[in-house]
Amino acid sequence: MRSSEIAFQRCLNTTCGSTFSISEVLTRCSRCGDLLDVDYDWSRARVPGSLREFEARWSERLNPLSYSGVWRFRELLPFAPDEQIVTIGEGQTQLKSSNAVARYCDLPEGTVLLQYEGLNPSGSFKDNGMTAASTHARMTGAKQAACASTGNTSASLAIYGGTSGLFGVVVFVGSGKISYGKLSQALDYGALTVQIRGDFDDAMRQVQAVCQREGIYLCNSVNPFRLEGQKTIIYRILESLGWEVPDWIVVPGGNLGNSSSFGKALSELKQLGLIQKLPRLAVINAAGSDTLYELYERRGSRWNGGQVDQALIDGFYAELDASGKRAETLATAIQISRPVNLKKALRALDVCDGVVRRVTDQEILDAKAQIGAGGFGCEPASAASVAGARLLRREGTIAPGERVVCILTGHQLKDPTATVAYHAGDAHSRDDLLKHGVERTPFANRPVAVANEIEEILRAVRAGSVG
Ligand code: F0G
Repeated sequence: MRSSEIAFQRCLNTTCGSTFSISEVLTRCSRCGDLLDVDYDWSRARVPGSLREFEARWSERLNPLSYSGVWRFRELLPFAPDEQIVTIGEGQTQLKSSNAVARYCDLPEGTVLLQYEGLNPSGSFKDNGMTAASTHARMTGAKQAACASTGNTSASLAIYGGTSGLFGVVVFVGSGKISYGKLSQALDYGALTVQIRGDFDDAMRQVQAVCQREGIYLCNSVNPFRLEGQKTIIYRILESLGWEVPDWIVVPGGNLGNSSSFGKALSELKQLGLIQKLPRLAVINAAGSDTLYELYERRGSRWNGGQVDQALIDGFYAELDASGKRAETLATAIQISRPVNLKKALRALDVCDGVVRRVTDQEILDAKAQIGAGGFGCEPASAASVAGARLLRREGTIAPGERVVCILTGHQLKDPTATVAYHAGDAHSRDDLLKHGVERTPFANRPVAVANEIEEILRAVRAGSVG
């Protein structure tokens, strides 16, 4: 039961509504099994009167808590005593306008902004959440932490375990389902890396069972503390816009942790009177991994004041099982059929008048090449946001002049294989692209093969020179 703390855990199911102390290590409500939120008694928290007050933290950069792009907003996730916070300088990210991407989306220059989360220490947005989960792990005395991953969560947990030395790390990945860039990080940072013969959904199911049996602290986004850290992506976007709220936030959807925490961040800010309006949220699935799209846009699954129609969801999963269909996309980070935060994402879509779209691997890789040519390389899953914005513009849902923020979730070097396959176009990689329905590479920047001979090299350089 909850004590007199400012922060507590609350069951997402509004009929159950059970609350628990933050000293309990839970990833599900122990009464009804639903997801949990971290919630606060805001009347007792020291919330600033205006978001501008956070700007003072820029002058305190020698204090690691004020340097962190997560913890300099600590009054908006007030669950941890300062001395317990585990930080490695995460969240030094940027919001940049990209005219190349705006043109590609057929939107006016200056209206499309990219939130570049690849600048985090482990190269993806996951560090925003992992600093918060690691902090809670420390608060509860965890000796071991684990996650299932398509690669970025494992890289992030491994770096926090490695640098803090506070807990050992076990990561579960689907064998052959993770890019080398990400696998190399988990191995290099010293995590025990378990490759399960199966996919992410299998790994996710197994890690939950293992954590429960062995008392290991679980760091997937089913952990409500992790999602608290990911709220700060929204705070940094607003800060970069001088605390103005954009019209759209477009985010790739996999396990739906980001979309869920964005919805929570925004509704809390509104409730606290710190923002006056809400942006619209667009969650973008890969076409080969489109559970949220199918349930929300085609079958009418809704938050419904917390009374989600579970039978509808279960029916869809039963169909998936019966057909033997598995998630399949080149954007391996979002190759997920059973997103654990589905219900929270439905709540976020409800709060932010949201839409869900699906984009093909062809659209993802074309968008990725445009983002890269504009200077902000990203991995395939991230480019789903830009492909989604383009689609929403084409269908008229996004209007010209609306300000659109696309989240670039992971660094380009996470998955160089996909990038080289698109640009280099050798026979082997062409086969791999074709397998995923990528038939054209209109934005390919082909390498030029030449003999080791100066005249031929010069001819190639002169022929390829621009400007
Ligand atoms: N983009 C990237 C680069 C990711 O790694 C992920 C998720 C997502 C988007 C989807 O975010 O789950 O919040 O909807 N990767 C997880 C992992 C599943 O294990 O690294 P989400």
